[in-house]
Amino acid sequence: MIDRINELFMQLEQFRATTPETLEAFRNKMLSKKGILAELFHEFKTIDPSQRREVGRLLNELKEKTSEAIARAKDHLESQLETSKGLDRIPDLSMPVDAFPLGARHPISIIRNRINGIFEKIGFTISEGPEMEDDWHNFSALNFPEEHPARDMQDTFFICKNPDLALRTHTSSVQVRVMESQKPPIRTISPGRVFRNEAISARAHCFFHQVEGLYIDKVVSFADMKQTLLHFAREMFGESTRIRLRPSFFPFTEPSAEMDVSCSICGQKGCNVCKYTGWIEIMGCGMVDPNVLENCGIDSNVYSGYAFGMGIERITMLTYQIKDLRLFFENDIRFLRQFQSAI
Ligand code: PHE
Repeated sequence: MIDRINELFMQLEQFRATTPETLEAFRNKMLSKKGILAELFHEFKTIDPSQRREVGRLLNELKEKTSEAIARAKDHLESQLETSKGLDRIPDLSMPVDAFPLGARHPISIIRNRINGIFEKIGFTISEGPEMEDDWHNFSALNFPEEHPARDMQDTFFICKNPDLALRTHTSSVQVRVMESQKPPIRTISPGRVFRNEAISARAHCFFHQVEGLYIDKVVSFADMKQTLLHFAREMFGESTRIRLRPSFFPFTEPSAEMDVSCSICGQKGCNVCKYTGWIEIMGCGMVDPNVLENCGIDSNVYSGYAFGMGIERITMLTYQIKDLRLFFENDIRFLRQFQSAI
């Protein structure tokens, strides 16, 4: 009898129920009134009293293990059933799908693309460069003398491990790279992210975006620059836009100017965007300083050129009348969704 019980222990171990029916059949075979265990318990009554203890213990253990194995198999089958129910729930695959919601471009990208487009149409190429720059490309080549206070104009983030490296403070650095590697005539704009150590507020951030432009050829004049920038302003802000140039200073341009556009929001009647002046400052510009041309290997006796640079955030704020620059970088989906239909 002990051998039979052990044999049943082995069968129990190998038992796997694949369907509820096989499980039920197994339960019947083992535990029903006429099942194997009932039969064994019946036989138990007739065995030699010296074996009773041992056989009784084994029989009880077999009964317990059988119930356990059946419960386990039942759980397993039920969980399998759940999963297959899930599969049943897959909808009709031939049904038309919901359209993906339309994404929105970031307003800074929209305006950058528009600025790029305006200049591309009149023959400017687009050039890009590294965000981490060396002193030469960000400052020295652009006529910022060593230790000169002009470097303080742009609060620079330096890279601790290498004092020669910094996060570029303007994309004029890209223009140095272009002048070093290409021969005039050069007409290029460089859009990109720039970094300055400024306190974050509604009007300033520690990083922002610029588009800077450069035109170098024989006999390029201040008047050429003015015409190009007037064209840009009209394309950007509307046909009736006027521009005004005010004297300014940049180490890399001489003469230098600040360009204002007529306020398109109030039609120059005066509003809080133009601070009741009718004019809004949008960029710096000027004739490239001959020192810069020489630094980049361009003969300043033969070539001249103009450069300009503008902040994309400012123009985007004007275009969409956004009052706080920080909104651009918060990634708040409610803000960004508003630009869904814009190209
Ligand atoms: N690089 C200047 C800035 O970041 C802008 C500028 C570019 C001014 C070219 C003049 C000419 O402020």
